[in-house]
Order: sequence, then structure tokens, then C-alpha cells
Amino acid sequence: MTKLIYVLNGPNLNMLGVREPGIYGGKTLPMIGEDCRAEAVRLGIEVDFRQSNHEGVLVDWIQEAGSKAKGLVINPGAYGHTSIALHDAIRAVQPLPVAEVHLSNIHAREEFRHKTMIAPVATGMICGFGPLCYVLALQALATRI
Ligand code: DQA
Repeated sequence: MTKLIYVLNGPNLNMLGVREPGIYGGKTLPMIGEDCRAEAVRLGIEVDFRQSNHEGVLVDWIQEAGSKAKGLVINPGAYGHTSIALHDAIRAVQPLPVAEVHLSNIHAREEFRHKTMIAPVATGMICGFGPLCYVLALQALATRI
């Protein structure tokens, strides 16, 4: 069976490239999707790369990952700091391996970004290395599937 990993992106990440490039860099989300697909080829896995600005859609996709994927990479954007619904959705699909990623180092930014609702229910978390975080997360999950 194909080793499929879902890569989900939350709110405002569709604005990458335009949005605060000093913090998030110049790459667009489609470019990061390409990086993920290239890494997937190297790892012999498949990725399904998606973005939504809507919390409920992300919940639906996490549930879908639970039945269709072998692992999940999620950049929850700001919902990572607030969403009990995303936390619960990830708990509900355990033991699916989950990697939380953030492009920026959330611990070096405003205090409201230091807390993550996802990290306590994720297998691991990678932040601060820009788009490389996605590649590192795929490599980490590939060791578990
Ligand atoms: C982010 C960090 C979040 O605090 C922020 O709300 C985002 C992007 C990141 O990738 O660095 O939207 O998840």
C-alpha cells in the first residue's frame, strides 16, 4: 500500500510570499508543496498537500487522514495556539504519527504564540527553519511508517 502522508496548512498560509516575508520568507505555499513532493519522491512516499482558512475543514481533513494516511504534517497557523477542536481531532486519530510545523520560531515571538494546543498531542514539533521544517517533518514521519 502507498505510504501516504497528509500535509495540512491552516489559515493565512495561502498568503505566503506576500505575507510578512521578513518573518515567513519569500516562498509561496505552492512552492513549499513542490518541496514536499520532491522530498516524497526521495523518501518513496506520497503527499497530499492542502490548505484551508477554516477550522472545521481542517478538522474534517484530520479525520480523513486518520483513515486514509499513514502520517500527518500540520502547520495549523494561528489555530495551533487556540484550537481545542484541532487538538481533539488529532487525539481522535491516534496513533497516527503527527508532526506539527511552524515556519517561524514561535517561541522567539510574541508570548501568545508560545502555547501550542497541538504539540501535546503530536508525535513531535519542528519550528523556526522556514520551509525546511516541512521536509524535516516528512523525513521524521517516514521513519515511523
Ligand atoms: C505560523 C506561526 C503562527 O503563530 C502564525 O499564526 C502563522 C504561521 C508559522 O508557520 O510560523 O500563521 O504557523
